[in-house]
Amino acid sequence: MAEKFRVALSSDFRKADGSPTYPDFDLTPLREAPGVEMAFLESRNPLEASQLEDFDALILLAHRFARESLPKSGRLAAVARFGVGYDTVDVDACTDAGIALVITPDGVRRPVAVSIVTLMLALTGKLMVKDRLTREAAAGFAKRSDYMGVGLVGRTLGALGIGNIGAELFRLVKPFDMKFIAHDPYADKKLAGELGIELVSLEDVFRRSDILSVSVPLNDETRHIVNAERFALMKPTAYLINTARGPIVDQKALTKVLQERRIAGAGLDVLEQEPPDPDDPILKLDNIILAPHALCWTDQCFSGNGAADVKAVLDVQHGREPRGVVNRAVLASDRWKKRLADFRARFGD
Ligand SMILES: NC(=O)c1ccc[n+]([C@@H]2O[C@H](COP(=O)([O-])OP(=O)(O)OC[C@H]3O[C@@H](n4cnc5c(N)ncnc54)[C@H](O)[C@@H]3O)[C@@H](O)[C@H]2O)c1
Repeated sequence: MAEKFRVALSSDFRKADGSPTYPDFDLTPLREAPGVEMAFLESRNPLEASQLEDFDALILLAHRFARESLPKSGRLAAVARFGVGYDTVDVDACTDAGIALVITPDGVRRPVAVSIVTLMLALTGKLMVKDRLTREAAAGFAKRSDYMGVGLVGRTLGALGIGNIGAELFRLVKPFDMKFIAHDPYADKKLAGELGIELVSLEDVFRRSDILSVSVPLNDETRHIVNAERFALMKPTAYLINTARGPIVDQKALTKVLQERRIAGAGLDVLEQEPPDPDDPILKLDNIILAPHALCWTDQCFSGNGAADVKAVLDVQHGREPRGVVNRAVLASDRWKKRLADFRARFGD
């Protein structure tokens, strides 16, 4: 019998009892695709080369894919990350091995932008404290006037990064009548113009924002790009929101400015250490809203990411170029073109 197109899934897609961790990720199209065989991996972090020798594609959630994860067989053609962050994947190693790294921008764009809006509204509306006041009954109601919220009309929404998610944030917030600014050295200037976003310097986005949202990838350039020096530029009334990756913000510096009430507050979906140390002082602050790197987790986010990964994998199986490839240099290589031609010959167009 002809060899199947074999797809590995990282172990975190399945619970210990074998049931799916995320039932919204519909694996039926993969399970029922002719010529495809799928298998769940054992949990190893980073993934080990020996686990991946006999697979053509990998769908990857939280495990790391490092250079030592590269299978020696040379069979693996695609790593499909469930989501868009790929700081857990050694991109150069994938490129060197001719493996396409695929991400799912269409799946996360709206859900993460909505989670930024959620934090912005909860922070400026003082939602968390008002919830607590209500539970204190009369004593809480008596303190209502001490917690005036912040209206958004004419206020400045700033973004660090206006890619897939950052741009969607501005699309969603358009009816709020805010001023839009952003810092992004690689921005699509035409898109920025269309969305009414003024592109500004790194310093100015900190200086001028009333709400500053971070939507950049984590890399050597962006690690601790939000730090003590930049907090010093922010207005005492400003809020910081980070839904990107924890280490983009110097968390010790953020904790200090929040303790000293030098900015109004922060909303974080991501932390430098996840999960945090239970004694981490950031957990004790009352001027921060925290989420466990899951604020964007909705049925639609998981079904969207899953559908995008399944489509990418099936595209590769049929010799078609998948969407959302990060290391596009791979696509231009003769090795990749031959791989796709071989898949096309085996599984049809
Ligand atoms: N919290 C979550 O669950 C969650 C979910 C999805 C994505 N994310 C994070 O959000 C990040 C952004 O996602 P995206 O899909 O918008 O990515 P993207 O690549 O489409 O956009 C990132 C933008 O950042 C810009 N950028 C790069 N370096 C910069 C710098 N030094 N200063 C300013 N801008 C810079 C890029 O030009 C780009 O426009 C991801 O890398 C991921 O880490 C988090």
